[in-house]
Amino acid sequence: MIKVENNLFTLTGDNFTYQMKVDSFGRLLHLYHGPKIIGDASSIISYRDRGFSASPYEAGFDRTYSYDYLPLEISTLGEGDFRTPGIIISQEDGTTSSAFIYKEHRVYNGSNKIKGLPSVVIEDAECLEITLEEELSKAKIILTYIIKDSSLVRGLEIVAGDKKIKLKKALYTFDYLYGSFDVTYFEGRHCSERTRKRATINTGALTFTSRKGATSHQINNGFIICDSNTTELFGSALSLELLWSGSFTFFAEKNQYGSTRVGLGMGSEFFEYELQNSSIALPELLITFSSNGFSDLSIKNNRFIMSHIRRKNLSKLNNPVLLNNWEATYFDFTGEKLLSIAKEAKALGCDLFVLDDGWFSNRNDDLSSLGDWFENKDKLKMDLNTLSSLITKEGIAFGLWVEPEMVSENSILFKNHPEWALMLKNKKPVRGRYQLVLDLSNKDVVAYIKSFLDDLITRGKLSYMKWDYNRFITDFFSSVTPAGKIEYDYILGLYSIFEYLNEKYPHLMIEGCSGGGGRFDLGLIYYTPQSWLSDNTDAIERLDIEFGSSYLYPIATFGSHVSAVPNHQTHRVTPLFTRSCVAMLGSYGLELDPTKLSEEEKNEIKFEIKEYKKYASLIKDGDFYRLLDSNEASSALCVSRDKSKALLIAVNRLSHGNPVDHHVKLKGLDENKNYLINGKVIPGSLLVNAGLLLPFTFSNDYEAIRLYIEEV
Ligand code: DGJ
Repeated sequence: MIKVENNLFTLTGDNFTYQMKVDSFGRLLHLYHGPKIIGDASSIISYRDRGFSASPYEAGFDRTYSYDYLPLEISTLGEGDFRTPGIIISQEDGTTSSAFIYKEHRVYNGSNKIKGLPSVVIEDAECLEITLEEELSKAKIILTYIIKDSSLVRGLEIVAGDKKIKLKKALYTFDYLYGSFDVTYFEGRHCSERTRKRATINTGALTFTSRKGATSHQINNGFIICDSNTTELFGSALSLELLWSGSFTFFAEKNQYGSTRVGLGMGSEFFEYELQNSSIALPELLITFSSNGFSDLSIKNNRFIMSHIRRKNLSKLNNPVLLNNWEATYFDFTGEKLLSIAKEAKALGCDLFVLDDGWFSNRNDDLSSLGDWFENKDKLKMDLNTLSSLITKEGIAFGLWVEPEMVSENSILFKNHPEWALMLKNKKPVRGRYQLVLDLSNKDVVAYIKSFLDDLITRGKLSYMKWDYNRFITDFFSSVTPAGKIEYDYILGLYSIFEYLNEKYPHLMIEGCSGGGGRFDLGLIYYTPQSWLSDNTDAIERLDIEFGSSYLYPIATFGSHVSAVPNHQTHRVTPLFTRSCVAMLGSYGLELDPTKLSEEEKNEIKFEIKEYKKYASLIKDGDFYRLLDSNEASSALCVSRDKSKALLIAVNRLSHGNPVDHHVKLKGLDENKNYLINGKVIPGSLLVNAGLLLPFTFSNDYEAIRLYIEEV
């Protein structure tokens, strides 16, 4: 519900209130965000003379009015607010002072698609739009707020008039007058993405920035702000997630009066967006609130993403189980070898065979050929169309790996169009994985990518495409786009290709990937129903990546595969059953050579694929509960929304002499129902409150348990 009364804007969701007020100087104050309230929260603001705090001219000699203290919806430089600002604009004369004053607002139903960006579209949503105007340049800020369930979606557009401005930073900020907060962030590295960490917000800013032109493995663009005593099951928490796949900046800080400011948006050192009679829209920000701990927050947030953000898989394949040949062959294959793998994959029960890197031009290692997207007939001994036909004749769909945003210097493409690569004029380019990044801010490059993809999709009769991105941007120089605009315009170019593909080939399933999970974000999830979670396929390490990612992303979006042992990244040998259980916490697939499996292994995999298919809709459409997440053991429960079915998966890491038992409380089940587990009927109240003893035998390391739970 959105209520506007006497300059007070009260936005009420299922479980939260977000309140703002226009004050007597036309400034938009941020009053409150938390559990539902009624009334005007401006009563908690005190106006006092704070000594060395500055006051704006319009306050006259009233020293009790200062932006040094007031909670602001839009914070800028040069107004006496000495906290980290959300918006930095440099004016025509180079000064960076700016002040945004309330102009007008409107309330309407149904959110609008933001042109060129992923955006939440909800027909029955309530929306508030507030327009502010900057005093000097007359540039406008249009703020939008969409309310649905426990979520709020913020939007922000900057519209410049005749006067030239440069936008140097544009972050959504949140001010809290008092309180002690922690930030939970998801950091990592290649093969170890989205590890959960928690820090107390204190004086001095805690900042995280990706200046890589992409989300990055190192820090995800989703954060959780919570009370300092919030746990998995108790306390208030809110998640902040950008619908964006490029560079970003986050900060959290406390000021000298104990108020907290948190910001998330665009503002790396490479960003400087010049505007004149033009505009820029920030990617939307999804904010979900819960008063019942991280578990409830994840469930509410993930339900929202599944209903309003994640692209539906429109492919004719229903929850396809795929086999990807990357770890099976790397670059070493022929068409015949691929065919034999695809046949075995079909026999095991897979729905889709994916041909990964190495099928085009002279690509036999990662040193060459990116940009030359025609099949290597010498290597395959056939053309793409024939290979695809032979594979699909076996009754299994065909998919292909591509890395469209990249170019190798020894490619024909680079020879013909060196100006299409992002590199400085007077300096040799910085290489990453031996390759350069194409300039997707250039419309000609975007048109070229669309045209070769059209060709591959048609000739290869593709049902699926794995879209990889294996290096980050370093050289911010384009032959057509001003340097400060590249970060933003590049991502717009990328999204325009996805928009094109989704519209033209609605049944083509695209899986996102970036050297594993280097671009795992809501921007990509808007266009691709799943993304490769990590290049680390070791079951034990993958558990941590899955658990970390599950805080802010539905497990349906996790590309998740069973690979061979010894594992290629860790050299660890884990039981096939354990690998399969861990892969089931996501979109299941295989990443191994099935022609090298023993009969026993083949039979086990056949069984596992059948089991996965039985549970697939429960896993994907149900709610995910983290039950246990310790150094010793992990356990998760997928529960159907009506609480009639559940799947429990648990893994004990190392076996110990004289081990300690592990118990879990099956949160998510209905206390008033009875459930059948392993042939025994057990009351829900017992499972939820007394819990379940996990029946590990402790007879070997990496032991897994899988239990199917059904209402009786
Ligand atoms: C990185 C991906 O994450 C891998 O799965 C694989 O596709 C390689 N790139 C291929 O180069």
